[in-house]
Amino acid sequence: MKFFLDTANTDEIKQALDWGLCDGVTTNPTLIAREGRNMEDAVKEIADLVGDRPVSAEVLAVEHDAIVEEAQERAAWAPNVVVKIPTIPEGVKAMRTCSELGIPINATLIFSSAQALLAAKAGAAYVSPFVGRQDDVGYDGMRTVEEIAVMLRNYDALTSEIILASARTVGHVIRGTQCGAHIVTLPFKTLEQLFKHPMTDIGLESFLNDYREMQEQLGG
Ligand code: E4P
Repeated sequence: MKFFLDTANTDEIKQALDWGLCDGVTTNPTLIAREGRNMEDAVKEIADLVGDRPVSAEVLAVEHDAIVEEAQERAAWAPNVVVKIPTIPEGVKAMRTCSELGIPINATLIFSSAQALLAAKAGAAYVSPFVGRQDDVGYDGMRTVEEIAVMLRNYDALTSEIILASARTVGHVIRGTQCGAHIVTLPFKTLEQLFKHPMTDIGLESFLNDYREMQEQLGG
């Protein structure tokens, strides 16, 4: 499973790269706004930082021609830019146009397997089901990911990869590995959570203390 970082914060991206745990980056307008930056500047800097790994940049338009125009602009920012398009009727139409133009698309704001099917049929390189936001309103977000995974396995012609998005817990990531989600996009906080277990901290402390005490006894 690949790990993308869901952030526009370059310090977080640098840390994940340093850990060897960043296979790409996804941004969205909210994440860019959180950094108080212009989208073009932020995406170009991130794209440069991550080398040839993919970086998703979202369109702001909601009508076909304007979406395609923005997609072409964003794709020209850097060779590793993937264009995020919302999975609405005009968006799905634009996904098809962009895919035919050779622009890789990340179909975003997917909340059902039906929406993922439409995006996959339109040639989206990635489909992004939002898990945490479904959980927030009482649905089982992971169920959608599981359905999409089965659907894509059943049809060779549908070549989209699943990006498990809006991942908020370790459980989301692990359930994603069970159903074969190709990628998970993680907020930095969730990436950090993957490392954590209280028994690791307790065990490490006692190993170090035991050895230190023995050395002190020998030395003393
Ligand atoms: C997907 O690419 C989105 O940027 C993201 O995963 C949304 O997550 P959120 O629900 O935590 O905002």
